[in-house]
Order: sequence, then structure tokens, then C-alpha cells
Amino acid sequence: MPTPHLPDVQACVFDAYGTLFDVNSAAERAKGALGARWQPLADTWRAKQLQYTWLRSLAGQHVDFWQVTGDALDFALESVKIADPALRAELMTLYLSLAAYPDVRAALERLKARGFRLAVLSNGSPRMLAAAVENAGLADLLDAVLSVEEVGIYKPHPSVYQLPVDRLGLAAGRMCFVSSNGWDAFCAQAFGYRAVWCNRFGQAPERIPAQPAAEVAALAALPDLLARGA
Ligand code: LAC
Repeated sequence: MPTPHLPDVQACVFDAYGTLFDVNSAAERAKGALGARWQPLADTWRAKQLQYTWLRSLAGQHVDFWQVTGDALDFALESVKIADPALRAELMTLYLSLAAYPDVRAALERLKARGFRLAVLSNGSPRMLAAAVENAGLADLLDAVLSVEEVGIYKPHPSVYQLPVDRLGLAAGRMCFVSSNGWDAFCAQAFGYRAVWCNRFGQAPERIPAQPAAEVAALAALPDLLARGA
């Protein structure tokens, strides 16, 4: 058994999109209609979706993640010169049932069996998160699914990272925050969590405060970072 790197952790809070759920999987499933354009579409869709969360938060013009996701898709479709309302509707429906990454279920089961409380904290709207969690068969493993809609502003606003503190009744320093989005992991660490960056895509570290407590390549490595039980 490797030495735990993150002692005194009692709960694990997971980012959703890109961490538990494969944000490319909607466009990939529509490959038949999109052809070679599926990957550029997926990349632009995701990049714009995140940009719009930050822009709307800075501008004080919040709308929920379903609206932001649709706006970003419209930008991405026009960028790859597709004007097809039926395909747009299909892609949005597919976004409600994104595939979970293959390592997710087993990692969560191991953590749950050891007594860690498990939660999701995401930009997603409650309806989107409920659909994704249900579709991936993760509902029985999660103690809480928390949406930014409770505070009406997107990550990385501190009021978002405060939600698990309030809901689980634990100090941020007693919780591990896990995200594949580097900026999310860095900002959660800066807030006070023990952040684990699940760097699925081998990205360079962000140049913002603060360095995550640990970095793993996949969620399978997470349980060994934590102490034997909560
Ligand atoms: C989320 C985005 C950051 O799930 O992926 O909050």
C-alpha cells in the first residue's frame, strides 16, 4: 500500500464535465452526420462553453449551463459551416447522456467502500447533472450533486466552491477536490481544498494560483492518494 499523500480527507468532490463525463462523446456519437468535422466541432464547442461561463460571470449576466451550452454549440456549428437544426437538437440531446470515462465507476466505488463521502460540484444545471449521473449509473454512489445554479454564478467564483463546505459540513481542507480542468483544480486549491488535478489530456500546468496538491493521469490513481479510510 503506497503512503497516502493526502491525509485527513473525509470527502471527495468531483467536477463533472471533462472529469466524470466525456465532453467529446456527444459530437463523437454524431460522427455519422459530422464526418471529420466532429473533433473540431467538439473542441470549439467545449472551449466556447467555458469562455461563455467566464464572460457571463464577469459581466453579471448569468444564464444556466443549458443555455450556455446551446449558445456555444451554435457558435461551433457556424464555425464549421453547418446549418442543420435537427443535428443541433440531436447534439443537445446527446449532451444529456454523455459517456462517463471508463475509470469513473470503479474509482468511486473504491472510495465509497472506504467511507469517503462523494459529491459532484459542477457548472451544469440540476437537470443536466441529474440526467448525466443517472445515465452513467452513478446516483447510488453520490451523497450530493451540487450545481452552480444555487448561487447563480460560474466557477471559479468562490461562492461555488463554498457549496460543498456548506452542504457536507466539512472544511474545504478536509475535502479532496478532483478536476480534469486544470484551471478548476488550481482555483479549488486556492480556495482551500486539497485539489487533485486529473490531467487526462497531459496539459501543461496553469499559471494561476495555486498548484494542486497532487496530479494523477486517471481517476484510478486517486484512491491510493488518500488515507485508508475517511
Ligand atoms: C463543470 C465544468 C467546469 O462540470 O466542466 O463544472
